[in-house]
Amino acid sequence: MGPGPSNVHPRVLQAMAAPTIGHLDPEFLKLMDEVQELLRWVFNTQNRLTIPISATGSAGMEACFANVFERGEKVLIGVNGVFGKRMTEVAKKYGQIAVSFEKEWGKIFEPDFIRVVLESEAGIAGVALVHAETSTGACQPLEEIGKICSKHDVIFLVDTVTSLGGIPVDVDGCNIDVCYSGTQKCLSCPPGLSPVTFSEKALEKISKRKTDIESWYFDLSMLQKYWTTGERVYHHTAPVNMIYALREALLILGEEGLETIFARHNLNSRALLSGMTALGVEPLVEEQYRLPELNTVKIPEGVDDKKVRSTLLNEYGIEIGAGLGPLAGKIWRIGLMGQSSTQKNVVYFLTALEQILKKMGVVSEGGKAVKAAEEVYGE
Ligand SMILES: Cc1ncc(COP(=O)(O)O)c(C=O)c1O
Repeated sequence: MGPGPSNVHPRVLQAMAAPTIGHLDPEFLKLMDEVQELLRWVFNTQNRLTIPISATGSAGMEACFANVFERGEKVLIGVNGVFGKRMTEVAKKYGQIAVSFEKEWGKIFEPDFIRVVLESEAGIAGVALVHAETSTGACQPLEEIGKICSKHDVIFLVDTVTSLGGIPVDVDGCNIDVCYSGTQKCLSCPPGLSPVTFSEKALEKISKRKTDIESWYFDLSMLQKYWTTGERVYHHTAPVNMIYALREALLILGEEGLETIFARHNLNSRALLSGMTALGVEPLVEEQYRLPELNTVKIPEGVDDKKVRSTLLNEYGIEIGAGLGPLAGKIWRIGLMGQSSTQKNVVYFLTALEQILKKMGVVSEGGKAVKAAEEVYGE
């Protein structure tokens, strides 16, 4: 119940244990095609270039910045947590001008603000935002901003590492041009792959680059030849068993259905937060911007953050996340991602936390938290 990786479905682990076949084996090529189709479905896109990068979410981030923008280009980057900040670091490594705009951690960026910046600042090549900021639990609305980017003909780049498979990610509907994610959060697959997708507008921009891309491993022109064209030219030895895992994880999502999955995440989060509120533990993020897969709550005054987390881990086998940056020591981050988003986990966690807080003398009578959560489940 931390901020990722989430629990992996046993079927995914089993799929990973299948024999490792060649990365150019005709059977594997078929499987690659299937994974691309499944990724288009979960991203809600028709983008032909929709593939997993063979490395973690940060590699997806690098692949997107490295290909779509060039040295000297200006990219507007929203920084309201750890991962927006990481985007600025990545852009700078590739010689791009990261025009970062900051917001208090836990808050989101308003479309009007982006509109004004695009109207007043000349020569912006793209806007980059984090959809689900794992360090704060805030969900950035994308639709309006996508329209604004489209109107200004700039690239819209979005991090969906913690949103994909947990809340709706609508790449085509939100006019997102470049998007990367990760396997270890709501897809409930082990860490190790970063699904990415590029719109035709992004591919056209890449095709018109004046300078060569400054990365060998992430060069999409070569990756495309392996993943999408009939040529199937060797680029790198694909992590074959991870691709088995991703395929299985996406099939499991398909069996449950995205709408059902989103409703499950929503219900478990509401039950968790209702239980927490009954204990006097308040959510950090305003209700309409809360991520159901990553719940952030304020640590009550006088409660020993580290002691609570270590007791949860050592005595109850539950991992939760600590606050980061300006929120260190101030919040807990409770993941209810993918396979980890269950009523059983919510009730067990609330029972454990209530016991711990009771022993610390913070809570007087027991049972309030689970009762409050159960009221939500009973609705
Ligand atoms: C929103 C977000 N972006 C990017 C990353 C980086 O992904 P990874 O740790 O898989 O490299 C993470 C990881 O937690 C994340 O939560």
